Amino acid sequence: MEHELQSLETEAREELSQLNGNSQLEEFRIRFLGRKGRFSTIMRQLGTVSSEDRPRLGQLANSVKKKVEKLFEEKSASLKRDSGTLDQDNISPDLTLPGRCPVKGKLHPVTQVMNEACQIFEKLGFSVAEGPDVETDHYNFEALNIPAHHPARDMHDTFYVSDSILLRTHTSPMQARIMEAQSPPLRVIAPGKVYRCDSDITHTAMFHQVEGFLVDKDISFADLKGILTVFTCEMFEQELPLRFRPSFFPFTEPSAEVDIACVMCNGVGCRICKNTGWLEILGSGMIDPEVFKMVGYDPEVYSGFAFGLGIERIAMLKYGIDDIRLFYENDQRFLSQF
Ligand code: FA5
Repeated sequence: MEHELQSLETEAREELSQLNGNSQLEEFRIRFLGRKGRFSTIMRQLGTVSSEDRPRLGQLANSVKKKVEKLFEEKSASLKRDSGTLDQDNISPDLTLPGRCPVKGKLHPVTQVMNEACQIFEKLGFSVAEGPDVETDHYNFEALNIPAHHPARDMHDTFYVSDSILLRTHTSPMQARIMEAQSPPLRVIAPGKVYRCDSDITHTAMFHQVEGFLVDKDISFADLKGILTVFTCEMFEQELPLRFRPSFFPFTEPSAEVDIACVMCNGVGCRICKNTGWLEILGSGMIDPEVFKMVGYDPEVYSGFAFGLGIERIAMLKYGIDDIRLFYENDQRFLSQF
């Protein structure tokens, strides 16, 4: 039995050093260490040896078994390390399977319309300027001829940060900022986010505007109408009826709000256009001489127009969306359509 135990140890050592893969390892375990394996058979034979030899042979059998078990554990760990925990015998990559397609991101529909609007104006010779979302009361109101306590401030539903700092309620502060820093002629657009405490199917608390203004000698309302007509034709790829409705902005005189025929109902009247057949997309007008004076331009020499487009409104009309709030619900089913 002593001899048998020694040769079993040698055999186990040799086999373990040569075996390759987990199925061979398992086969080894069953053959040597399993319930009906070679060690169990030897242990059962211990009962037949003399009582003087039994303790010595029992000790030897146990120590050989421990050595083989240790060798087995080491081999098992080294196989795992080599295969990076993958069972190479059972799992191998199927190279014929189609690869996983990465999900392609898309620009938000409002960003797409914003980019398109900027491109149209850039083609018309406008340069692009960007300004801060957190603005001073001075640029948002004072420099635009809206002094403290002016009733026009009520129209803006302003989010104040402090007494003199606020979230800009429109992109018009960029008129004052640019005119202060540069001399005419100017032809600038200023796209960006604006904020008002407002929410219904055509209003959100954060929305986007594109401010546009042009200052030069002999600029008239006809130039404003021309630019806006070209813009709407390009944006909607058709000649939509435009309506200039007299309005009031303290920084333009005369002022007009511009509506386009409601594309949802073709001007017949629906809940989006509040049954008027028209939807307001922008405010505009000739820059007020008071604004020119504040930035040091001579209103006797220069004239100009300005407008502020609502980008979400344009996107609603372009894509036939009947609730502006859908843009900001982050529903993939909605967003992935654009
Ligand atoms: C203004 O904001 C003026 N600054 C526009 C202007 C610029 C006039 C230059 C003259 C010269 P108004 O408040 O009307 O104007 O807003 C302009 C456009 O923004 C609206 O026509 C509308 O399309 C859009 N708009 C206004 N409020 C919201 C809102 N809460 N949500 C989405 N769009 C809005």
